[in-house]
Amino acid sequence: MSTRRPRPDIDALARRSLRLIGALQTTEGAYPASPTFSAYVGYSWLRDGAFIADAMSSAGQVDSAGRFFEWCADVVLRRAGAIEWIVEETSAGRRPPAEHMLPARFTFSGDDGTDDWWDFQLDGYGTWLWALAAHLTRHQLDPAPYREAAALTARYLLASWERPCYDWWEEHAQHVHVSTLACVAAGLDAAASIVDTDLSADIRSELTAIRRLVMTQGIGGGHLLKWLGSTAVDGSLAAAIAPLGFVDPHSEVARRTISAIESHLTVEGGVHRYLGDTFFGGGQWPLLSCFLGLAHLAAGDTGRANALLDWAASTATDDLDLPEQTPGHLIAPGMRQEWIDRWGPVATPLLWSHAMFLRLGIALGRIDVEAITTDGVAQ
Ligand code: BGC
Repeated sequence: MSTRRPRPDIDALARRSLRLIGALQTTEGAYPASPTFSAYVGYSWLRDGAFIADAMSSAGQVDSAGRFFEWCADVVLRRAGAIEWIVEETSAGRRPPAEHMLPARFTFSGDDGTDDWWDFQLDGYGTWLWALAAHLTRHQLDPAPYREAAALTARYLLASWERPCYDWWEEHAQHVHVSTLACVAAGLDAAASIVDTDLSADIRSELTAIRRLVMTQGIGGGHLLKWLGSTAVDGSLAAAIAPLGFVDPHSEVARRTISAIESHLTVEGGVHRYLGDTFFGGGQWPLLSCFLGLAHLAAGDTGRANALLDWAASTATDDLDLPEQTPGHLIAPGMRQEWIDRWGPVATPLLWSHAMFLRLGIALGRIDVEAITTDGVAQ
């Protein structure tokens, strides 16, 4: 049974999204992934948080986004010793085991979690740098307070980017994922404008290596692939086109990647993560509809981007909460109940879903930032 409603009020949902994210941001600056979902309560992810901050920054919430980036900087600076050790060990040819790499999510006070998790994920370390640089440019802010944390993060990524790790979906740790590489490259590229010249030169040469690797092993059938050497596509790859800009939106690779995501993973406007997804039955993710919408918009198809925004908005509950995924079209219906029994109902609201709705709606000009805020603050 679908929770989708026929004609959502974009304006009301935008106000609600802004208010929800603003109200749930913690005093430390972290954005919780979801306030109620059992497995996420008490944690902030770099990946979710960076995209949430990017949306808040686009919505003129300069203070909120800035507080998140300060939280990220603190998280990284507190791990300076671990990062130096990882960099040294790696350069001495002793690759640290995955359990010694930095985690994907943190408690609100910036500590490592105490529950077991699929923690070794590199994408969030690139994504926070990318979102930070976009925020500094958008609001013409001074990068100096972030220089040290950006340099440490960049050195961690330079030492580690070639390693297999868990992907956006915290799965398939044995592979090198193309959307992870896109996040890492976007973050390194962004950091190059913040850090000192020597590090910046190292970054430039490594960026060439990342691109070469993706172009030789990360493309098949003309489109980006889920992981190096795979043949499949993944919904997260839309982000490589926009907002990350790793792939030129007018290129043939972008055109074919969008087309593969549309034909393999999209039903109406709802985008699946990948074929073979069984998490809560493998439903459609409104946040991925928004990423695909951003890619279409960057490539010039405003009509399709608008339709994807409408689809994402239509997944809101009567209380205007956006879920992580919807059960309208499931890849593995038999697996849904197993996850409900394990973790409870699908995460709702998911702040990342609200953020991506805001981000696409603002990019399309369908959300009027001035109208939904007063004195720059969500009302
Ligand atoms: C998703 C991740 C996400 C996390 C928190 C997981 O189920 O696979 O992409 O970062 O939830 O929202």
